[in-house]
This record gives sequence, structure tokens and C-alpha cells, in this order.
Amino acid sequence: MKAGFVQFDPIFGEVDKNIEKARQLIEPLDADLIVLPEFFNTGYLFTSKQEAEELGEIIPGGPTTEALCGIAGRKNLYLVGGLIEKAGDRLYNAAVLVSPEGHLGTYRKVHLFNEETLWFTPGDNEFEVYDIGSCKLGIMICFDWIFPEVMRVLALKGAEVVCHPANLVLPFCQNAMITRCLENRVFAVTSNRTGTEHRGGKTFCYTGRSQITGPAANILYRAGADTEETGVVNLDVSLARNKRLNPYNDLFYDRRIPFYGALTGQVA
Ligand code: ACM
Repeated sequence: MKAGFVQFDPIFGEVDKNIEKARQLIEPLDADLIVLPEFFNTGYLFTSKQEAEELGEIIPGGPTTEALCGIAGRKNLYLVGGLIEKAGDRLYNAAVLVSPEGHLGTYRKVHLFNEETLWFTPGDNEFEVYDIGSCKLGIMICFDWIFPEVMRVLALKGAEVVCHPANLVLPFCQNAMITRCLENRVFAVTSNRTGTEHRGGKTFCYTGRSQITGPAANILYRAGADTEETGVVNLDVSLARNKRLNPYNDLFYDRRIPFYGALTGQVA
């Protein structure tokens, strides 16, 4: 399958322009699956809950999800992209999965980063894996990467390709994804944004370097730190179904679960 990302510098609050930019970047691509950044339609650096609320949308049926469905239908591909979900009086940092036929699923970010904890409700659904024909796909958002449990759970549930919309500001994730993919023998597509936001007296610099990572700890594509860029790679998804490192070691069956009790407990 051909999977890829679009990397760009969304303009804060300019939803129509950001969707149009994403559309223009996706238009020439030949791919089965494209991942867009976290909050690709709104920008990231909110200064109040009200501001986030005004940019939030219902899913499905909101304008951004509808626009993505339109692109997916026209291009006959799957898209994963991040946006604010408005659900009653709650806001979620969400990512939608849309198919050529329409909205297929929504992931609500489980591990909120920094001031996101002020504006958003943490994700309250289980990690889900979607069979899209060309692969089994899982979704996590940005800071979820620092919790190895997320990719482990997705991989144990059968994910072969992890879609990872991001607005990364720390420099660690791209290298960490090499280990995440190795230890779970999966592919990952990290779609990060670029640029700098100055809002409410704060400055966030986003690290770009969107990355497609393979199960053999291999970087299949890494974008520039500050470029508007797309990348598409042909993935041999069957490699993610084989958890064996050698004739004697299988990364899933070799786990010694009785020794991992503390994983499900409280911090000492
Ligand atoms: C992040 O989770 N946006 C760093």
C-alpha cells in the first residue's frame, strides 16, 4: 500500500484556508492513505476554552470532516486528520478517519499535552483498529507517543500502520518512533506541522520532520524541519504481521506478562 503525509504551516483560525492548503497538497499525490497534522484546520496555540470552542466542530457532519470526505471520495483514498471535536459541552482533541465512502471513525486523544488539559476532555474511548483493506490501521495523536502503552495496545489489537497526526514541539518523538516501530514491528506515519505560533504571550515552534517509520527500525521518509512537504512510501504491510526477530524470538509471544503486573497498577 502507498501511505504518506502532508506537512505544512496551518494559519491559526483560518479553517477554510487550511483545508484548501491540505487539499492542494493532497491533490497530486498517488496514495491509499494520507495523514494530516493534529489540528491541521485550526492551528494549535489556543488562549482560552472559548477560542477552542469557537473552532470546534461536530463529528461526523461538521465542515472539516465533510471536506475531508469530499477529498477522500474524489481521490479514492483514506485520510486521517486532526481537529477539535465538539460533543455537547465537551471538546476533544480528535482525529477522524475518512474513507472514499465517508466518515469511518474518530479517535479522541487520550494523553493531553500541556495546556490542552485546560481546554479539552481526555479521550474516553478505547484504542480502535480499523481494517481498511490495504492494512489494519490504528490512530494516536502527538503526545500519545511518549506512552509506549499506546502503540503496544494498538499493535496487540492488530494495527499494522499507526497514523500519528502531530504538532510536535519537543525534539524527541521522531527518533523515539524508530523504537516504537521496532518493539511492535509496525509502520507509523507521523504527520507533523511546521512554523511558529505566537499567541497570548506564548511561542510554540513546531519541529516538522514528518516521518514514515518501518518495523525494522528504518526511517522510510523524513521531511525537512521547516518545509511544506509531502511524502508517500510504498509499504509492505506483511512485514508488520511478522513479530519474529529471529527463529527464537517473537516480540509478542515472548512477553513475560506475569512479570509486568506493575504496568496496570499505581505509581509506587
Ligand atoms: C502535542 O501533543 N501536541 C505535543
